[in-house]
Amino acid sequence: MKNKVAVVPGDGIGVEVTAEAVKVLEALAPSLRTSIELVHYDWGAERWLKDRTTLPEGAFEDLRDHHQAILFGALGDPRVPEQIHARDILLGLRFRLDLYINLRPVKLLDDRLTPLRGKTTRDIDMLVLRENTEGLYVGVGGNFKKGTPDEIAINEDVNTRKGVERILRAAFEMARGRRKKVCMSDKANALTYAHGLWQRAFKEIAVDYKDVEASHLYVDVAAMEMVRAPERFDVLVTSNMFGDILTDLGAAIVGGLGLAASGNIHPGRCSLFEPVHGSAPDIAGKGLANPLGAISSTAMMLRHLGEESAATRIEAAVERVVKESRVTRDLGGKLSTQECGKSVLDALA
Ligand SMILES: NC(=O)c1ccc[n+]([C@@H]2O[C@H](COP(=O)([O-])OP(=O)(O)OC[C@H]3O[C@@H](n4cnc5c(N)ncnc54)[C@H](O)[C@@H]3O)[C@@H](O)[C@H]2O)c1
Repeated sequence: MKNKVAVVPGDGIGVEVTAEAVKVLEALAPSLRTSIELVHYDWGAERWLKDRTTLPEGAFEDLRDHHQAILFGALGDPRVPEQIHARDILLGLRFRLDLYINLRPVKLLDDRLTPLRGKTTRDIDMLVLRENTEGLYVGVGGNFKKGTPDEIAINEDVNTRKGVERILRAAFEMARGRRKKVCMSDKANALTYAHGLWQRAFKEIAVDYKDVEASHLYVDVAAMEMVRAPERFDVLVTSNMFGDILTDLGAAIVGGLGLAASGNIHPGRCSLFEPVHGSAPDIAGKGLANPLGAISSTAMMLRHLGEESAATRIEAAVERVVKESRVTRDLGGKLSTQECGKSVLDALA
């Protein structure tokens, strides 16, 4: 069996960290159960500046029908107005491929890396599921009397029964493979219509998962608890916007954005894996970018492709280089992007 993987490094440090992730993938290729064909795509700001292409015609169908996964770097370039390329490519793929689970592990790999006093690797190990296709990010809304003192600006928060139910079920399913605890976070006390739906669906679905402990926190309390008592959380499921914010907080309590990995997943379909960070123009091209978020995203991709043991090997290698401080400056190390990537390859060997 063959898996076809699209590699889209994108912009800025996306290019640098993806190069290291690809080296890890290539090193592991001989030990995989399936063969992997990597197909490289140049979509990003440079391409847009050259010929105004964001996602080329036919590319979406090709990804959907002929690829099993996409390994993505980052998109974002100040030269592109309103980041239209990022909106078309990244948000476009999330929505059009219906990648409804944004999976973001928040796991502390070494006690030194958390700014939370007294917390250790035993306390911080959670999996956040962010709804990825609805909510405030659907782009429903508009401006009225734009640019005048009477301006009205609206973004609608779209929540469907189907969309809410499937992300909640995914959370319960994943909790069964972990510590069997799901916390759902919303703001139903203020957003009574939209998040009232989350509340009702959560209570109904929990009945089907009696072996899993179901709890609820309003999002403001969830943010506080992630800092005060992160050990409370196993699986945390929430809406698109709250997930966006809570997972940056999650990254901050385990060592920062450079380490954070994510998957944009529709089980059984072509899914997209990317580090949580952006293109970081402030450090791009300097060899300062931490490649471990991209490398850990590759592990998540391999798991999606059924390569559990390769995924576990990468995660163990990343944990080892972090513990031995063979890392980039953002984690207190001295290595360049390439040297840090090499240290993962050495740990794998
Ligand atoms: N998924 C994506 O492609 C994505 C996500 C977020 C932001 N963006 C885009 O990226 C551009 C820059 O956005 P931003 O500055 O708000 O966020 P960013 O994640 O690019 O950077 C935030 C800060 O974290 C640092 N940082 C990020 N990744 C790092 C890494 N791997 N190693 C070391 N340090 C790292 C950066 O130097 C910067 O100081 C914008 O155009 C934004 O729209 C893209």
